[in-house]
Amino acid sequence: MDLERIRSDFPALSNYTWFQNGGVSITPRPVAEEHIRLMRELLERGPMHIIYPEEEYPRRIRTKDRLGEFFNVEGGDLALMRGVSEGFQTILRGLDWKEGDHVLMTTEEEAALFLPTLHLRDLFGVKVDKIPLVNDLQGQVDAVEELITDRTRLIAFSHVITDSGFRLPCKEICHLARERGILTFVDMAHSAGLYPMDLYEEGCDFAGLLSYKWMYAPYASGALFVRKERLDDIRVTYAGGRAEAWADWVNDKFELKSSAERFEYGPWSWPLIHAWACSMDYLSGIGLDKIWDRTVLLTSRLKSGLTQIPGVTLFTPEAPELSAAVQSFHVAGWEVDDVKTELQSRWNIELKAFKTTYHGLRASCPFFLLEEEVDRLLEAIRTLAGEKG
Ligand SMILES: Cc1ncc(COP(=O)(O)O)c(C=O)c1O
Repeated sequence: MDLERIRSDFPALSNYTWFQNGGVSITPRPVAEEHIRLMRELLERGPMHIIYPEEEYPRRIRTKDRLGEFFNVEGGDLALMRGVSEGFQTILRGLDWKEGDHVLMTTEEEAALFLPTLHLRDLFGVKVDKIPLVNDLQGQVDAVEELITDRTRLIAFSHVITDSGFRLPCKEICHLARERGILTFVDMAHSAGLYPMDLYEEGCDFAGLLSYKWMYAPYASGALFVRKERLDDIRVTYAGGRAEAWADWVNDKFELKSSAERFEYGPWSWPLIHAWACSMDYLSGIGLDKIWDRTVLLTSRLKSGLTQIPGVTLFTPEAPELSAAVQSFHVAGWEVDDVKTELQSRWNIELKAFKTTYHGLRASCPFFLLEEEVDRLLEAIRTLAGEKG
């Protein structure tokens, strides 16, 4: 991997040491330039689908196919969404809920799954239980199994937990759910883009995807994956222009699209979506296997360094099979916001301080970070821990 060349694609790297990629990524030059090129095209040629539909509509199909290809599915298996929340809402609102139905999510869901699930509970009297996170593959599957009841209808979980960085055994959990006739929705915000992924192989019925973390496309676009066999299990709650296969204004008739695209309605910023497809080319050009290998190398270095600093507690599992690109920790004696501020002002390091059910710092490791940058973060943490130790 030509790190020097790749890093030169990310001019923002000259501003800070970047451990905040799990929030919103920085964007590489070829992807940003494609977005700019499309905006310039708009400036010079006008709205493409209105003036040059014969150019723009085929381009949209190519983009959609590219999105599908990246996840080894068909373009039509994906419905464009603004992000994961919208995809999850689409699924939740497409099911018929009865009081007492049961939904499982994990104890540490991000707002994208957490809020819609609680809202569902309050609207329909659905019972919600939370799956504890377990630092052991089979233990995690067992923890899910223990909570399943004969009313469980949906298991919704983040593939990679937003703050603590646990990577859940997606295939195994989805397999278990399928055996019990339970639907699965997987939030792939922190796994999509890190390694080659086949959504059918992952086993989930539905998945929420994002452009703007580990895929390095501009904020914000996303998609909902719907497994073909599940298409007819989800009612279209919001039918609107773009959801139709055809519409007959004389006889007041219409038919929805036969693919997951029936869940799309209303306009999109297509330059943004085309730029997302461009980021897929960028990542594939580097090689997803190489991206994953480097992610494991950097995160292992960071985690093993953190465990050696007195006063530091690592929350993320050390095993690469149970983690991904985000790792989090706590420094004894420090408020997390103060650690964040000190890292910014004394070392020019950007990371996230989180305060949910517990407090911690989250360091995200994009594959193009340098070993020296990981070491710089470790040295800074060692210094801060020492000041309170
Ligand atoms: C696990 C996870 N899911 C989803 C999101 C965001 O979802 P949305 O784009 O719907 O806001 C984030 C972070 O922004 C996240 O960490």
